[in-house]
Amino acid sequence: MLGSQELVLAIGGTGAQGIPVVKALSSNSKYAVRVITRNAASTEAQMLSSIAGVEIFEGDSYDEATLRKAFDGVEYVFANTNGFAIGEKAEIYWGIRLYELAREFGVKHFLYAGLEYASKLGNFDPKYRTGHLDGKGKVVDYLKAQPVTPMPWSVLTSCLYIEGLSEILQPFPHPKEPGTMIFAVPLGEGKCPLIYLEDYGAYARWIFDTPNRSTGIELHVATEDIAWKDLAAAFTEVTGQKAVYQDISLDEYFALGIFPEPDAKIGYSSSPDDSTLFTYRENFSGFWNCWKDNLTKRDYDLLDEILPTRVKSVKEWMTKTKYDGKPAQVLKTFR
Ligand SMILES: NC(=O)c1ccc[n+]([C@@H]2O[C@H](COP(=O)([O-])OP(=O)(O)OC[C@H]3O[C@@H](n4cnc5c(N)ncnc54)[C@H](OP(=O)(O)O)[C@@H]3O)[C@@H](O)[C@H]2O)c1
Repeated sequence: MLGSQELVLAIGGTGAQGIPVVKALSSNSKYAVRVITRNAASTEAQMLSSIAGVEIFEGDSYDEATLRKAFDGVEYVFANTNGFAIGEKAEIYWGIRLYELAREFGVKHFLYAGLEYASKLGNFDPKYRTGHLDGKGKVVDYLKAQPVTPMPWSVLTSCLYIEGLSEILQPFPHPKEPGTMIFAVPLGEGKCPLIYLEDYGAYARWIFDTPNRSTGIELHVATEDIAWKDLAAAFTEVTGQKAVYQDISLDEYFALGIFPEPDAKIGYSSSPDDSTLFTYRENFSGFWNCWKDNLTKRDYDLLDEILPTRVKSVKEWMTKTKYDGKPAQVLKTFR
């Protein structure tokens, strides 16, 4: 770390979402980044440690004693807690605890990686209950109740990664029509937002670079809100391959095999006896109901202004990345 650099602590910095943030922050010498990870020898940690200005801090980010060491000398915090690993209850606890530690350690700016509070947006109709969204949404509400002095906070609220089109959202061949790909989700006529992760990293950088505008805001980011029939059409335009959207029921969705055990609990780092944990079926039913009913909204004019170079459509992303519908690994946890 150079003398003039400001130190950012990245929680979740080795993940699909954290890596582009760490890269964007370390892209010139303004910030140094300390990435906390359970395993300094992982492919992701090794890749990040080869970037100038990035240091790897080995330890568990859900452990108070470890965090107190990791916070030493830190001026900025980017926190993406992992609700899939720890469950909703622990995600609420650690989101708030990270804010409190940041205050205690005199951090200059706290950036929380938020998600939509689906239940609240859906007037607490249980059909929208989604553990991994609601947990972060509750932390965001907590942050909004905090002052912006002495420590400014910001929230960067995202959505499904567009890269997931090669993993959790990938198309599969039509069983009766060879050459046609099927994009199947329980989305009805709804539009689902997708975010290009490299742009996500750039928004995080903008938040730290532009405190006069980013302090005390929740920035909702996405590349595009897209109906799946338009996504299938974009795929055909870009690849020349025929594709269709299949609007499926939740039961059909969980039979696809995307989640090998739909009735297993989410929160593999928690005790399976924790009765607050959701099953994949419960969690992702609420999740798709939320997008199907268009509960959320983004301000694309604002995003264009903040990041004029942003990828503006799914089609543009498909062209840029030469997307072909083939599987690729996105989430660290899936590896
Ligand atoms: N998938 C999506 O489309 C999407 C979109 C928006 C938000 N999210 C949210 O992002 C979070 C997950 O982050 P990600 O997408 O970057 O996932 P990922 O690629 O699977 O990475 C998981 C991250 O969590 C860290 N982690 C810390 N303790 C962990 C534990 N006990 N078990 C597993 N991982 C642990 C990992 O660090 P080490 O392994 O290095 O310790 C790694 O940085 C979730 O809260 C999810 O809701 C996901």
